[in-house]
Amino acid sequence: MSIKGLKVGIVLTGSFCTFAKAKSAIRELVEAGADVLPVFSYHAQSIDSRFCKAKEYVKEIEALTGNSAILTIEDAEPIGPLQLTDVLAIAPCTGNTLAKLNLGITDTPALMAAKAHMRTGKPLVISISTNDALGLCFKNIGSLMSSKDIYFVPFGQDNPEKKPKSMVAHMELLIPTIEAALLGKQIQPILKDDPNIFPAKE
Ligand SMILES: Cc1cc2nc3c(=O)[nH]c(=O)nc-3n(C[C@H](O)[C@H](O)[C@H](O)COP(=O)(O)O)c2cc1C
Repeated sequence: MSIKGLKVGIVLTGSFCTFAKAKSAIRELVEAGADVLPVFSYHAQSIDSRFCKAKEYVKEIEALTGNSAILTIEDAEPIGPLQLTDVLAIAPCTGNTLAKLNLGITDTPALMAAKAHMRTGKPLVISISTNDALGLCFKNIGSLMSSKDIYFVPFGQDNPEKKPKSMVAHMELLIPTIEAALLGKQIQPILKDDPNIFPAKE
């Protein structure tokens, strides 16, 4: 299913090392003809890090999409009643947002956007990025993976030696994951090794 002309919500949470990849994925979506509505968690829109200045990044994403970013819970709430999104992706999704989503907590614009979107029965896509994916977060990944209307961008370990519990999604697969999710399908395989980490044996 093509995403041309579709309203795609992209929810950014505080995995700042993934922001450059998220920007590339958003650019791809725009170039593919999607109308991208950006949403930021409170931390994603306010924490300056070695990866970027928060406010500058928000402005860059607004310029790229041509849409004002949703930055508050009250501005995220209409996503449901006004049907502002055909599909919504939390990309990147922190361990924090993943845990709260799994518990039905709605105390950030990111989580409000997900809740509002999901009340319409449309697909929610999650692109994880957390050092704790194989630790305390693992149960939340499992629980959400077996939940209705939720799909995952394929992910894998990014640094098994130094960060043995870390997993990161392959953000370059965001569009194919969204396209499959719109058809009610989980793109496969969900588990995808990074070839730079696990080189193929000759
Ligand atoms: C520089 C920096 C990088 C971070 N990277 C990640 C990350 O990749 N994954 C993650 O789950 N949390 C990461 N965090 C922690 C989250 O930002 C923190 O848990 C925050 O509460 C997330 O809030 P949010 O989910 O509402 O955006 C990072 C924090 C900082 C300061």
